Amino acid sequence: MATDTQDGYGLVSKTFHWVMALLVGWQFLKFFDRIDEGEHWVGQTLVSWHISIGVLLLVMAVTRFGWALNQRGQRPLNDPAMDFYIKAGHGLIYATLILLPLTGIMLMVGAGFGVTAFGVELIAKGEKIGWAQSLGSLHSPLAWILAALVIGHIAMALFHQFVRRDGTLDRML
Ligand code: HEM
Ligand code: HEM
Repeated sequence: MATDTQDGYGLVSKTFHWVMALLVGWQFLKFFDRIDEGEHWVGQTLVSWHISIGVLLLVMAVTRFGWALNQRGQRPLNDPAMDFYIKAGHGLIYATLILLPLTGIMLMVGAGFGVTAFGVELIAKGEKIGWAQSLGSLHSPLAWILAALVIGHIAMALFHQFVRRDGTLDRML
């Protein structure tokens, strides 16, 4: 079924979840630029898509957030005692998924480089902009925060699957 039910996520939510998990994993390869300033195979091939995939993720994150709001009355129910913490955790993931590409765009615009995604110029090159550079400096800390959130998220999913055995993972598979 395309829409969510209280027993599990529907095709739309599952597709968003797993396609975006793959793309976010791809974006994390940017951390490898810290090794030899990206002068290696990963840096020269996969990471060269960073800006295009980042812009795509911005569109997907906003659309997915709208979808989550639209489906909120019919999604799988959480343990009531944990409901607030689960929603807060997922909310933080959504917030960083939206702020990361926005601050990435600020980095590029602030440096005067403009933004081109998949060969299409979205923002032209121009002068350096100080305030945009300042906002852009939040990009790296946000990337580390998202990495920590995702590690915690995966640990919880595996905990529910293999320790609690409560079928939480099944509803996203
Ligand atoms: C969800 C989307 C995105 C994720 C998960 C992401 C993730 C990352 C990560 C992990 C780094 C390495 C940070 C570090 O080593 O400390 C990085 C750096 C960078 N990202 Fe993104 N990014 C995203 C979107 C974007 C977008 C849309 C742009 C530009 C339009 C962008 C531009 C950059 C730039 C220029 C750097 C290098 C920053 C520097 O060396 O100071 N990113 N990003
Ligand atoms: C970058 C990687 C990931 C991100 C950004 C992410 C994000 C999210 C978000 C925002 C939700 C809330 C439901 C929604 O709105 O779609 C969710 C649910 C879920 N995720 Fe992930 N996820 C990632 C990777 C993973 C991985 C690798 C696993 C499995 C090991 C996983 C397992 C789950 C499960 C089981 C749920 C349902 C939780 C529930 O119903 O309470 N996720 N994920």
